[in-house]
Amino acid sequence: MVIAVDGPAASGKGTLAKRLAAHYRLPALDTGLLYRMVARAMLDAGHDIHDPQAAEATVASFEEADFPEDRLRGREIGEAASVVAAMPAVRKGLIERQRRFAAQPQGAVLDGRDIGTVICPQAPAKLFVTATPEVRAARRHKELAGRGETATFEGILADIRRRDARDSGRSDAPLKAAEDAVILDTSALTVEEAVAAAIAIVDDRLSG
Ligand code: DC
Repeated sequence: MVIAVDGPAASGKGTLAKRLAAHYRLPALDTGLLYRMVARAMLDAGHDIHDPQAAEATVASFEEADFPEDRLRGREIGEAASVVAAMPAVRKGLIERQRRFAAQPQGAVLDGRDIGTVICPQAPAKLFVTATPEVRAARRHKELAGRGETATFEGILADIRRRDARDSGRSDAPLKAAEDAVILDTSALTVEEAVAAAIAIVDDRLSG
């Protein structure tokens, strides 16, 4: 069983994907980390993040093991990942490893922006997790403060709006809900409420 979890930055999709994976005992892949790795590798090598040729060469050669997660989670890396993710060669270079992960015999949970639309269009259960930009900015603000990063709420809100516009506006695999996805707005939900709602949606899809 493949569960596709898509949604904008800081919508709660990563938390929900992990909790769904634990509940259904499935392996989970945070596909945003792949784009973050490409961005990290480019920055580490001194490349301009807007250079599509350097991005294409990077995606062909990077090793996932080279990047501990704490080097991928910072504020600038999210922004840089969104820039490289708009490049068709980068998306193409990452499709196969995502589809391989999804093809494991027991199934998998993948979260990202285009899982339900492009990577696993046949997934039986698809969630599109969303929340207002203000709620997402408040969550990200708290998360970054916990990591010791100083950033204002307004700055983070501006980041989120810019990232939404770029991720939704690109021509290749833009952020959007698949036609058969169930939209889950987590703005007014606690984590536990959102997890319960997500499990109910998946159970309903699997029984139907
Ligand atoms: O989910 P995240 O914030 O870690 O993702 C970082 C960026 O990577 C996001 O702004 C857009 C891109 N991304 C994507 O284009 N497609 C995915 N499946 C996952 C992430």
